[in-house]
Amino acid sequence: MIAHFSLEQIDEVVKTIQARTSYRPRVSIVLGSGLNGLADSVEKPDIIPFGDLPHFPVSTVMGHAGRLVIGELEGQAVFVMQGRIHFYEGYSMAQVTLPVRVMQRLGIEILIVTNAAGGVNPAFTPGDVMLITDNLNLIGIAGQNPLIGPNLDKIGPRFPDMSQAYDRALCDLARSVARKENIILQEGIYAGLSGPSFESPADLRFLRLAGADSVGMSTVPEVIVARHGGMRVLGLSGISNKANLDGSMVTTHEEVMEAGKHITPKIEKLVRGILRQL
Ligand code: HPA
Repeated sequence: MIAHFSLEQIDEVVKTIQARTSYRPRVSIVLGSGLNGLADSVEKPDIIPFGDLPHFPVSTVMGHAGRLVIGELEGQAVFVMQGRIHFYEGYSMAQVTLPVRVMQRLGIEILIVTNAAGGVNPAFTPGDVMLITDNLNLIGIAGQNPLIGPNLDKIGPRFPDMSQAYDRALCDLARSVARKENIILQEGIYAGLSGPSFESPADLRFLRLAGADSVGMSTVPEVIVARHGGMRVLGLSGISNKANLDGSMVTTHEEVMEAGKHITPKIEKLVRGILRQL
């Protein structure tokens, strides 16, 4: 298990990417479970499988292709992670967040992060999209913060602020695009857990009491690392299932993948609208 990466190791990945693409994107997009389809809309792409990159972990989860798709969307150069790395796959926090470190050294300023999530807020329906306005870092509170270890002083401070993890101007932009496109955009707090087991009904009642609106197994470590390096972050949860607060429902990965098919077109519209105005 790799505890941390040096700047030199991160830059080896950066050099490999720069040798394979002439795009120099400002914006990156991480695609969550079942939301991979958006990468297929990227025009004139340079495609790099994670396995071709030094130090890069490979995605082992069904529904995560595991490749970089670097090309154009709405006339903007974009760096798309088609598939992400999760802590539950057995990778370290450093490995899970290496892609974000690489983005920072590539000069990418904006991270649009998407995920599939359970709807803890009873007002949410599967198929909804939720703008993430803040997160509950339960995995970090439990001692798994990706910044544990030597601080990369060239990238950011030892004790980074997290008071505005999700950029307010980007949230406003997402709201205005949603209005124009007639997309119902829910809003709320994303609780980040390790997974891979789904939550028990008692876990979910606890999360609801703690203020969570959606729950998933990713995103928070990536956002912490992004903010450490001063990137601006926009987060979108695709609500794939209703949280099982009373124990009457069963949650499956297949359900999450199926919901992704309905959520992807909405997220694509939102992302395209946002890219047009960046
Ligand atoms: N819980 C955790 N992660 C998830 C869920 C869920 O209900 N749905 C999709 N990802």
